[in-house]
Amino acid sequence: MTVASASAIAPFLLPALLLLFAVVLGSGAGELDLEAGAAAALLEFKRELVDVDGRLTSWDDGASEDPCGWAGVACSPGGEVTGITLPGLNLHGRLSAAVCALPHLAVLNVSNNALTGPVPPGLAACAALEVLDLSTNALHGAVPPGLCALRALRRLFLSNNLLVGGIPPAIGNLTALEELEIYSNNLTGKIPTSIRALQRLRVIRAGFNDLSGPIPVELTECTSLEFLGFAHNNLTGEVPRELSRLKNLTTLFLWQNGLSGEVPPELGNCTSLQEIYLSENKLTGIIPGELGRIPTLQLLYLNENRLQGSIPPELGQLSTIRDIDLSENKLTGIIPGELGRIPTLQLLYLNKNRLQGSIPPELGQLSTITQIDLSTNNLIGTIPAAFQNLSGLESLRLFDNQLHGDIPPLLGANSSNLSFLDLSDNQLTGSIPPYLCKYQKLTFLSLGLNSLVGEIPPGVKACRTLTRLRTRLIVELSMLQNLSSLEMHQNRFSGRIPPEIGKFRSTQRLIPSDNYLVGHIPAAIGNLTRLVTFNVSSNQQLTGPIPRG
Ligand SMILES: *[C@@H]1O[C@H](CO)[C@@H](O)[C@H](O)[C@H]1NC(C)=O
Ligand SMILES: *[C@@H]1O[C@H](CO)[C@@H](O)[C@H](O)[C@H]1NC(C)=O
Ligand SMILES: *[C@@H]1O[C@H](CO)[C@@H](O)[C@H](O)[C@H]1NC(C)=O
Ligand SMILES: *[C@@H]1O[C@H](CO)[C@@H](O)[C@H](O)[C@H]1NC(C)=O
Ligand SMILES: *[C@@H]1O[C@H](CO)[C@@H](O)[C@H](O)[C@H]1NC(C)=O
Ligand SMILES: *[C@@H]1O[C@H](CO)[C@@H](O)[C@H](O)[C@H]1NC(C)=O
Ligand SMILES: *[C@@H]1O[C@H](CO)[C@@H](O)[C@H](O)[C@H]1NC(C)=O
Ligand SMILES: *[C@@H]1O[C@H](CO)[C@@H](O)[C@H](O)[C@H]1NC(C)=O
Ligand SMILES: *[C@@H]1O[C@H](CO)[C@@H](O)[C@H](O)[C@H]1NC(C)=O
Ligand SMILES: *[C@@H]1O[C@H](CO)[C@@H](O)[C@H](O)[C@H]1NC(C)=O
Ligand SMILES: *[C@@H]1O[C@H](CO)[C@@H](O)[C@H](O)[C@H]1NC(C)=O
Ligand SMILES: *[C@@H]1O[C@H](CO)[C@@H](O)[C@H](O)[C@H]1NC(C)=O
Repeated sequence: MTVASASAIAPFLLPALLLLFAVVLGSGAGELDLEAGAAAALLEFKRELVDVDGRLTSWDDGASEDPCGWAGVACSPGGEVTGITLPGLNLHGRLSAAVCALPHLAVLNVSNNALTGPVPPGLAACAALEVLDLSTNALHGAVPPGLCALRALRRLFLSNNLLVGGIPPAIGNLTALEELEIYSNNLTGKIPTSIRALQRLRVIRAGFNDLSGPIPVELTECTSLEFLGFAHNNLTGEVPRELSRLKNLTTLFLWQNGLSGEVPPELGNCTSLQEIYLSENKLTGIIPGELGRIPTLQLLYLNENRLQGSIPPELGQLSTIRDIDLSENKLTGIIPGELGRIPTLQLLYLNKNRLQGSIPPELGQLSTITQIDLSTNNLIGTIPAAFQNLSGLESLRLFDNQLHGDIPPLLGANSSNLSFLDLSDNQLTGSIPPYLCKYQKLTFLSLGLNSLVGEIPPGVKACRTLTRLRTRLIVELSMLQNLSSLEMHQNRFSGRIPPEIGKFRSTQRLIPSDNYLVGHIPAAIGNLTRLVTFNVSSNQQLTGPIPRG
């Protein structure tokens, strides 16, 4: 024994003293056996681990046979080991079921380590276990059905491993279960209907697996459910109408599956819902106006489905909603002005639909909005002047519509965070508004495929933050030293390409095609060493060879 560990002898002696007392008092003679047994079980558990960083050096029967002082070990007042909590200690090696020799073990938490091998079926013998957290390791193989014998289990966390096979049907035996987290594995098969028995289940997070088959209607008998997560699986069939039974449901994550049928109007009865993610499925039918009845809704993501019909004006009643994403569907009709009355809206994505009519001026009242995307629709009319009032606006995408008229001249003047503006591919006329970069935040500006005239205003020319500009070319742009993309195709810009173009050392894309440019292509272009794309086609009077650099 080294000198350093000699001081550890005192605690080592303590059990021996306790034994003396026990003998004297004629009771508790089993205590030392219990302690020694506990230490032995823990050391056997440790033997399977590879303790790379020496975080378990206190686990040593030479130093102390009382394991209650060992790192991560919790004990009851009576000295029984009740918990092993070893998250994030860079433990390698395998998990051992030896700890099940500890009859009072309620918590086993080895999350966020680098454990490999299977989940030991022997864990089924840890009868007192209430919390089992093996998440974020590299465990493989199947979920042992035997775990479902752990009647006291309240939290079962197996996420972020390499587990395969199905959710065991015996899961229905875990009637004390409150939280089941099994996301990010390779689990397959169906969601077992036996899950209906889990009346205390509040959270099920099973996303990022390869589960298939329908969402069983039996799942809606788990009336305590608050978080229902099966995103990024291979589920098919319909979203069960009976979800309306789940009065405490706050979060519905079913995005990226193969779900079909309608968005159930009954979801409007889930009066605790805060987040609905049904995006990237095959949902058809209309968007039910009943969704506007959910008083707590904050996020509504229905994008990338096959939804038809018009946007229900009732969505304007959602007085706490932050994000509405209905993009990439087949929606028709007009954009309801009622949406402009939502006091909390930050994100409105309606792009890639078949929306018609003009942009309602009411959207200019969205005082909290930061992101608007109405691109790739059939919108007509002008850009509402009220958009000049959107002081929180960061990103505005209106490209690929049939908007006409002038761009509101004060656009950007009161939008201190404006960084992304794409108005390209419309029929806009007039000049470029001067205040787009007033606050030096603009990084992307695309105005191509319009009928704009005039010069780039000085305030935009001096925009130091701009990295991508799709508009006309002009000498003074030399301020824009970091410009990586200059696209100004299909406008009516005229004049020569200035030699100063050679100063744009970062430029990777230069597309002055389809304009009325004249003269020689300047040799300075040869200095643009990062240039990847250069398209000068359809400028009929542009002459000379393309310089090399
Ligand atoms: C396990 O420990 C980690 C880190 O302390 C904690 O975040 C996690 O919630 C614990 N797991 C359970 C199921 O309590
Ligand atoms: C589940 O409970 C049933 C009935 O008590 C029992 O027959 C079955 O063996 C249990 N399954 C598991 C894996 O514990
Ligand atoms: C899990 O699935 C991913 C993606 O399909 C695959 O790359 C990986 O090899 C699978 N792992 C196991 C353990 O099956
Ligand atoms: C729903 O939540 C409330 C408040 O937290 C709780 O009292 C109630 O028991 C829950 N209902 C169910 C079915 O779990
Ligand atoms: C999804 O499930 C279908 C059958 O329902 C199957 O044909 C397909 O291969 C599955 N896709 C993946 C990625 O597992
Ligand atoms: C649930 O929603 C449907 C359709 O919106 C409605 O007809 C029904 O009355 C609602 N039921 C309850 C219990 O709120
Ligand atoms: C901008 O907001 C102010 C104050 O709310 C209002 O008076 C003005 O009419 C608005 N401008 C437009 C173009 O809507
Ligand atoms: C601009 O963005 C910052 C950082 O996100 C934020 O704190 C600030 O409130 C925003 N300004 C406006 C006017 O919305
Ligand atoms: C900018 O917007 C804020 C908030 O809406 C408003 O109070 C202020 O008057 C506006 N300023 C200008 C110059 O329009
Ligand atoms: C240009 O880019 C460099 C590197 O990203 C950055 O350090 C510099 O601040 C940028 N210049 C301006 C004027 O934004
Ligand atoms: C290319 O850059 C070099 C170094 O800055 C400069 O001397 C030269 O004149 C430039 N060439 C052209 C054609 O602008
Ligand atoms: C160059 O621009 C012309 C006209 O805008 C376009 O038709 C052509 O596809 C472009 N070429 C490339 C390689 O992008």
